[in-house]
Amino acid sequence: MNLVPVSVGDYRRIAERKLPRFLFDYVDGGAYGEVTLARNVADFAGIVPRQRVMRDVSSVETSTRLAGTDCAMPLALAPVGMGGMLARRAEIQAKRAADAAGVPFTLSTVSICSLEEIAAVSDRPFWFQLYMLRDRGVVTEILDRAWAVGVRTLVFTVDLAVVGERYRDIRNGIAGGTGRWGQLRSGPLSYLSHPRWLWDVGVTGKPHTFGNLAAYVPAATNPTQYREWVGRQFDASVTWEDIAWLRQQWKGQLIIKGVLSPEDGIAAARAGADAVIVSNHGGRQLDGVASSISMLPQLREAVPDTVSVLMDGGVRSGLDMFRAVALGADGVMIGRPWAYAVAARGEAGVSAMLTAFAREMSVAMALCGVTSVADISRDLVALEGDNR
Ligand code: FNR
Repeated sequence: MNLVPVSVGDYRRIAERKLPRFLFDYVDGGAYGEVTLARNVADFAGIVPRQRVMRDVSSVETSTRLAGTDCAMPLALAPVGMGGMLARRAEIQAKRAADAAGVPFTLSTVSICSLEEIAAVSDRPFWFQLYMLRDRGVVTEILDRAWAVGVRTLVFTVDLAVVGERYRDIRNGIAGGTGRWGQLRSGPLSYLSHPRWLWDVGVTGKPHTFGNLAAYVPAATNPTQYREWVGRQFDASVTWEDIAWLRQQWKGQLIIKGVLSPEDGIAAARAGADAVIVSNHGGRQLDGVASSISMLPQLREAVPDTVSVLMDGGVRSGLDMFRAVALGADGVMIGRPWAYAVAARGEAGVSAMLTAFAREMSVAMALCGVTSVADISRDLVALEGDNR
């Protein structure tokens, strides 16, 4: 394809051609009927920027601070489990691009590259995402490792008490116990129809590894068994009281990811969170729930001012980032956009995409007449149906 990718949609199309079907669907898909997945994106279109003219916008500044980290724009790369399989050591490539763009990269608990590998990329800090595991000894050990390699911001994900089911994964044979994940380690022969992806991940290179959890997985585990093992380790009995425990363990910033209702936002703040992320896990958990962006204003209202509010789900451009900030977000996270970009064009793809996000944010700010993130206020957007 000779297309020069510009938008997230462009990277998505290239990723679709390049990746084995099951892997593209794993990234692209959502739970059940994918109603929430579609809503997350669609609801941004109903937020209408209000153009303002004749102000001095000769110098626009997109930089801000998120959860203790200086950021070139109000954006962080969201944790994407198994993301490292999308290209050769893809999490390392994405971390490099995030460094260059001056935004935080978040490493998933269930990554391919380990905390130590990501830390070796540069001195720039990154964020680490944690799922609560049954074995609290393992949790404290992982937290110690994260702290030791310089992580100071922990993203604790709370919306995966059970794993949401995705029809696409079931159809493709990667959910429900058996199937293709299992073949990944034994050899890529079944993927010979995807030469570009095979080349990228390195047919003769290292087999996919189990990142942060490699040390705890029983020997000779294949990816299918790994998924099952991980499923058994996730602790569905976690409550807000466990966050108090976590709060004691973790001296850095604590972000709670996956609240969608104001009551839960308040509970997260009471439990000691420095920030919350309004999220429905990218429409991958409970299908049918409201879009994150539609819940953002209520959450911002409910949570004390001392607690930052981020959102993710459906952010596909710098303009969407602007819209979210206008509706009260301190910042946004993007999941699929970086996953598509790294699959399509590796580090260079993620870099180009982040540059485009920053440029678009700054254009939106200029054309709405503001020059700093702090000046982006609610009156710069109308909601469809409002009097514009
Ligand atoms: C995710 N997400 C996620 N979240 C998390 O806390 N830990 C994880 O390991 C993962 N894994 C994961 C894999 C894949 C393939 C996707 C697409 C998403 C959710 C992610 O962090 C984020 O909340 C959403 O991706 C945001 O929605 P968008 O930007 O993809 O629309």
